[in-house]
Amino acid sequence: MVILSAYNQLLIVMQNSALSNPEKSAVLSQQFRNRVDHLFKTIQDHGGGVDKAAAEFGGNRANWIDLSTGINPVPYPVGDISPDAWHALPDHAAQSGLLRAARAFWRVPEGAAILATPGASAPIAIAPRLAKARSVHIAAPTYNEHAAAFKAAGWRMTPHIAEAHAQVVVHPNNPDGRMFTSDDLQAPLRIIDESFCDVMPEASLMDQADVSGTLVLKSFGKFWGLAGVRLGFVIGDPLLIAQLDQMLGPWPVSGPALEIGARALTDPEWAAQTRIRLATDAARLDRLVQNAGAMPLGGTTLFRLFEVPDATEWQTRLARHHIWSRVFPYNPRWLRLGLPAPDQWDRVEGAFA
Ligand SMILES: Cc1ncc(COP(=O)(O)O)c(C=O)c1O
Repeated sequence: MVILSAYNQLLIVMQNSALSNPEKSAVLSQQFRNRVDHLFKTIQDHGGGVDKAAAEFGGNRANWIDLSTGINPVPYPVGDISPDAWHALPDHAAQSGLLRAARAFWRVPEGAAILATPGASAPIAIAPRLAKARSVHIAAPTYNEHAAAFKAAGWRMTPHIAEAHAQVVVHPNNPDGRMFTSDDLQAPLRIIDESFCDVMPEASLMDQADVSGTLVLKSFGKFWGLAGVRLGFVIGDPLLIAQLDQMLGPWPVSGPALEIGARALTDPEWAAQTRIRLATDAARLDRLVQNAGAMPLGGTTLFRLFEVPDATEWQTRLARHHIWSRVFPYNPRWLRLGLPAPDQWDRVEGAFA
């Protein structure tokens, strides 16, 4: 926290001094960024971290409000789980029931295959092993597990899509909500991470899933607010899906996850109401934070991105109210906030007052 704060202060000073001596400042700033980016390479780009924040700022961990993730704070009501789901190894019927529900929910093209996975994280980690390591284009800045996984598998990052053998788009992007179109998909292996797309199903690129070399990732953790269930899906080129299936081995998804997933994915009514509530709450959060002096930059209705004069300072201010937020090592002015749960708004509004 202290290091991040110092780093952000320095970046801000450099950005300001760029106004007086742009050329020299640009060189200095780039050298500085390279060094510190190297330092931050090992810091994982995740939300969470409330335990550490509570240790630093005090308070009972259970009373902290965690706005550092993009998880729906009103999760799908899972209901009762059958004793068999806990007791028995998941059978074929349970697996195919979930996949049928997923196909219908996302209107998966017939020519695409589908595999249930332990979160979107599992295919993110192993997909780079589907092809010989060459060059990959990742539309950045974005969720940095993609780059970490490709680098770990020996791939080289390229800023040039035309020379890339693989590409990743996070659609809509985390953290800025940037959207992509099918024209952006150009590499032979293309990964479309739609972990946050269920708030806007009309924007999905699922119609690309039957194009050779394409994989579409879905997360059950975000929109349904059940990150702990560890359920996700990879949908796309049958040859690639068959390899991923092999890599994951038998029973990658638990019985309770299969049951909960099948239930939620056959409940379009809950999904429709949830989209409306998330949109209302996202607009409310934008107004609140904007009134406090931040500029809304976008995001999705599961998380909002703001520009502030000094993100670490804002994070600290909120942390004193035991509210945890998200800052980014690569941009000292970006603050990302997830949505408060219905009973948390008073405290969040109080913190911004
Ligand atoms: C863009 C993106 N993809 C995937 C994941 C991981 O999702 P899951 O919890 O389903 O593994 C995250 C988690 O924050 C994310 O931001």
